[in-house]
Amino acid sequence: MDVLKRLDEIKSDFEEELTHCRDAGDLEAVRVKYVGRKGELTGILRSLSGLSPEEKREAGKRANVLKNEFAGSLAEIKERLKSERAREKEGGLDVTLPGIRHRMGTVHPLTRTMARINEIFVSLGFRIAEGPEIESEFYNFEALNIPLDHPSRDAFDTFYIDREYLLRSHTSNVQVHVMQRQSPPVQVIMPGRVYRPDAVDATHSFMFHQVEGLLVDEDVKFSDLKGVLSVFCKSMFGEDIKMRLRPHFFPFTEPSAEVDISCIICKGEGCRVCSGNGWLEILGAGMVNPKVFEAVGYDPEKYTGFAFGMGVERIAMLLYGIDDIRLFYENDVRFLEQFI
Ligand code: DAH
Repeated sequence: MDVLKRLDEIKSDFEEELTHCRDAGDLEAVRVKYVGRKGELTGILRSLSGLSPEEKREAGKRANVLKNEFAGSLAEIKERLKSERAREKEGGLDVTLPGIRHRMGTVHPLTRTMARINEIFVSLGFRIAEGPEIESEFYNFEALNIPLDHPSRDAFDTFYIDREYLLRSHTSNVQVHVMQRQSPPVQVIMPGRVYRPDAVDATHSFMFHQVEGLLVDEDVKFSDLKGVLSVFCKSMFGEDIKMRLRPHFFPFTEPSAEVDISCIICKGEGCRVCSGNGWLEILGAGMVNPKVFEAVGYDPEKYTGFAFGMGVERIAMLLYGIDDIRLFYENDVRFLEQFI
């Protein structure tokens, strides 16, 4: 029935206009427009006589209900405006209004993981150092004994900015800066962002984070490296975690190893996360190659040292059971809120 539809429209228009009323004048204008002598609702009530008895009954009932409702709302708003005025005179403070709830931020899981890694190494006597993310080939490659024909120097594996500068592909560049700046003993960790032109998927990102470590002194041995890493693994993943070193190759260390921990999900039984073999690779390490010492002007006859590098995303994913690296960068509050 058209009249009923029209009445609904009038109701919602009336309510909408009420929300814009700021003073008694506004309110009076709304009253006149809807329930005044020539008002919209009044007009409907007058026109009811032209309808069939049945329509008249229904529309009349509805229009009268609205009339009462409108009168009630007008009176209510009038009172509210009056007390607002009075409050404004007292200084405008309404202590009875509900408060505005501020949502608490949380520390990002990557920041948190990186802070935990740093904390462990700082407790072992390491200092934190940082270096540039835009880097020359010398610091990112040459000084680290990475030869020209190494695949990581290829444009497909590195973001070049021009012929000499690139976005660093690892945090190992900071080792070189630190050693150029100071003579041994050196004991630093170097957290930061690194970049590789990888296609983004659940386990790859063109930007991620690493923490690099370097210790140089007289008489540093492979067993020192093993001891430091074993303390790190136990502090990070739990006392019952096992660690193993597999021989590997890195140009900047000799000998080199990849370091695995026993799977933190299945405790070494074999599961989906560890691809069934019970071990998870978490970092690369080794004894600093004498060629690196030569590049920074350290005497390789006098000094030895160890270095290591780990991916922060990988560790955070293992610790928190996250199966998609992209979640770290999407700023989805539903994800971030879980890390309180
Ligand atoms: N730079 C290596 C990478 O990005 C990680 C690494 C391995 C760093 C062994 C080291 C190391 O210092 O000794 O894959």
